[in-house]
Amino acid sequence: MNEYNKMFDHHWSLYQKILQHNYMGHDQIYSVLEDDLISHIHAPFSFLDIGCGDAQTITGRLKHTPISAYTGIDLSADALAHAQHFLTPLQIQTHLINNDFEHALADLVTQRVQFDVIFSGFALHHLAPEQRIHAFHNIYQLLDKGGCFYLIDVYPHKDEPRDTYLDRYLAKPMTDWTELNDTEKTILDDHVRSSDFPACKDTLIEIATETGFESIQCLFEDDEHANILMAFTK
Ligand SMILES: C[S@@+](CC[C@H](N)C(=O)[O-])C[C@H]1O[C@@H](n2cnc3c(N)ncnc32)[C@H](O)[C@@H]1O
Repeated sequence: MNEYNKMFDHHWSLYQKILQHNYMGHDQIYSVLEDDLISHIHAPFSFLDIGCGDAQTITGRLKHTPISAYTGIDLSADALAHAQHFLTPLQIQTHLINNDFEHALADLVTQRVQFDVIFSGFALHHLAPEQRIHAFHNIYQLLDKGGCFYLIDVYPHKDEPRDTYLDRYLAKPMTDWTELNDTEKTILDDHVRSSDFPACKDTLIEIATETGFESIQCLFEDDEHANILMAFTK
């Protein structure tokens, strides 16, 4: 079992604790996403969530939108079991895929499925650079013309070495995330150091441009939490 699985399959409650205390800044960045969805989308839309986890945060933000169908992909069966619970009140068509998102995206492309909106929150940083480029190509193919891919993720500064980024990112949990005990901090530190390979904003723009996206916008940047929200329109 790799570090990814240890964190999300066996320690989903740890991630829920992080969310409960808004340690990663979910409240601020998801609020910008919600505002953008509400102001730009007025017709029923299909939504693909890549690395959806338990979908708790996103479902809270989707309830004020005209979403008509939700598809979620996640490797953690435990998280998907929680996701079903959070999706039920939306009373929409739901489809949860328990698979690696690389394979799940490729399968959806093969099936020629299309989505109006594609989203990924704090998940694509687990991909290596080549895999990230491939994921962008698949996402582009899965989007309807005019559709939008929203990406929320952690990000390093431009030209910041990965080790420098990791030390900077992890300094905050170690000192400020006071509700985590020492064991939880160690699990988090191990997970981030072994599994996080985030891309900086310029790299994301470069990949999206080369993929063919028409419009690329940075909707929110939070240096304190090292979070970014980008919108890529086809
Ligand atoms: C940090 S959580 C993010 C959950 C939620 N999207 C959010 O914004 O809070 C990352 C999620 O990505 C999933 N994940 C990581 N790597 C994955 C992969 N290769 N394939 C599918 N899911 C993956 C994890 O299981 C986890 O649920």
